[in-house]
Amino acid sequence: MKIVHQPVLKAEVFEWLRPEGDGGLLIDATLGEGGHGEMFLKACPTLSLIGIDADPQVLSTARLRLAPFAEGAPGRVRFFETWFDQFFKTPASGEKADRILLDLGISIFHYAGSGRGFSLTAEEPLDMRLNPGLDLTAGKIVNSFSEKKLADIFFRFGEEPMARRFARAIVMARAGKPVSTARELGEILRRAAPEARRHRRIHPATGVFMALRIVVNSELDRLESALENAVGWLKPGGRIGVISFHSLEDRLVKTFFKGKALEPETGDGAVLRILTKKPIIPGEEERVFNPPSRSAKFRVAEKI
Ligand SMILES: C[S@@+](CC[C@H](N)C(=O)[O-])C[C@H]1O[C@@H](n2cnc3c(N)ncnc32)[C@H](O)[C@@H]1O
Repeated sequence: MKIVHQPVLKAEVFEWLRPEGDGGLLIDATLGEGGHGEMFLKACPTLSLIGIDADPQVLSTARLRLAPFAEGAPGRVRFFETWFDQFFKTPASGEKADRILLDLGISIFHYAGSGRGFSLTAEEPLDMRLNPGLDLTAGKIVNSFSEKKLADIFFRFGEEPMARRFARAIVMARAGKPVSTARELGEILRRAAPEARRHRRIHPATGVFMALRIVVNSELDRLESALENAVGWLKPGGRIGVISFHSLEDRLVKTFFKGKALEPETGDGAVLRILTKKPIIPGEEERVFNPPSRSAKFRVAEKI
């Protein structure tokens, strides 16, 4: 078992989501390699965990890592290889959660060890699927979508101001031969970028890669659906915490919490109470020690 992902905002997640009496049920809807899950299981002796992940490879690491907590306590840790929106679509029957955590996006394993083309300098096929059951890959998008559709995707999901220029460059490049690796795509976009952008710390292809990943895995649709249904899985007084890594996700979480915290017309009927008026972000030390944490924003709400 090789663990490569460093959980973000560990102390803050524990502080806000530590269950009353250190027991009850935590649903970790993005279990990953089980970093946050392990922290809770270690600190809370009577807590049970439902761990969900769409990716069978990371989930197998979590299964090994968390196995010791289930020894002598069958059922304490349960694993679900599924999309979190699918999981929450099934209404909670009897069993409800004290805490729900969503730590969105992908993990370091996906960049460094999955071989699926998430990293823009990797000589890997353009895949980007979190689960092999999906049909659409990043390669299919890049090599078959129209120039206009590519530009729309890059603008909308990558917030890429040069979306049209990059879409054009891809269409020109693929006219010769299909774009087959992540590195090749990264290079096409680097060459298409104006001189000034090529020398910035952030690679010019970053927004396009993010857009491809979001579309391949339907990330925003899944998040919206999961939030809506996850509230039904919470006990009154239960808490839901979401860590997001880019503005599209964070906006969605913020708007969702606000919508549930107040009935728009009357101010009545609120279902959630927002506990974090402003998102919690990593401190200087974490940002230096774990650079991928830099864009993390953590919001927490409590079911009324
Ligand atoms: C940032 S990582 C979680 C890391 C984890 N908290 C830890 O400490 O090790 C996000 C995980 O969520 C999974 N994931 C992303 N979107 C998902 C979805 N819609 N349904 C289920 N799993 C998802 C990814 O496969 C990835 O393993």
